[in-house]
Amino acid sequence: MSAPKAGQPDSPPSSWPEAKQNPGWAGDTGEFAQLSEADVRGNAYVGVRPKDGGLPVVAGSMPYQIAEKDPEAPIFVGPYEERLQKILGEYPDRQNALLPALHMAHEIRGYLSPATMDEVAERLELAPAYVRGVASFYTMYNLGPVGKYLIQVCTNISCNLCGGDAVFEAFLKHTGTEAGETSANGLWTVMEVECLGACGFPTAVQVNERYLENVRPENVPDILAMLT
Ligand code: FES
Repeated sequence: MSAPKAGQPDSPPSSWPEAKQNPGWAGDTGEFAQLSEADVRGNAYVGVRPKDGGLPVVAGSMPYQIAEKDPEAPIFVGPYEERLQKILGEYPDRQNALLPALHMAHEIRGYLSPATMDEVAERLELAPAYVRGVASFYTMYNLGPVGKYLIQVCTNISCNLCGGDAVFEAFLKHTGTEAGETSANGLWTVMEVECLGACGFPTAVQVNERYLENVRPENVPDILAMLT
């Protein structure tokens, strides 16, 4: 589906269901109605993960993206080496640590180049072909450079019913990009993705490490302005 031309309205084609906004979040009903969303879910939910890896149980295991991507940055030094050691300590052998090790390299460099995959293979003492096969199987690993802000818009069933397609089109229009392509200024890459696991709060959008929920097409300009 192509992006609307500049100057066209944000409204989706008439064949799409009308975009609906989720009436709230799951916690604002029942006996805890007085609590705010931040009270219940915590600000850390959308916060920036500390570079030392945060909680040991999730250290290096989440597909985080940071804005300051550096394709030349060392991936197994300092706090990142400590995180790798935490990861290795949780698995019986190095092969089991491959996915979180790839996530870590991905987080630092923004994508997995062939050279990066080889570096991970060497560090984990695995065959380079095996590492490349695993990395290319999972769509959450970028195999090419992405913009400073990687915007992933869920258009799976729950979000789709609430107008996810229109949100996706609005991001393409307002960033001036085509799906999956990076804007000329290097700021934006917009992708359509499968379920982000936030189906109760459609439309869900992930911008680097941050989750945004209940996004509607008219929110898109404000979201982009907030990022720049
Ligand atoms: S369908 Fe969009 S987050 Fe699950």
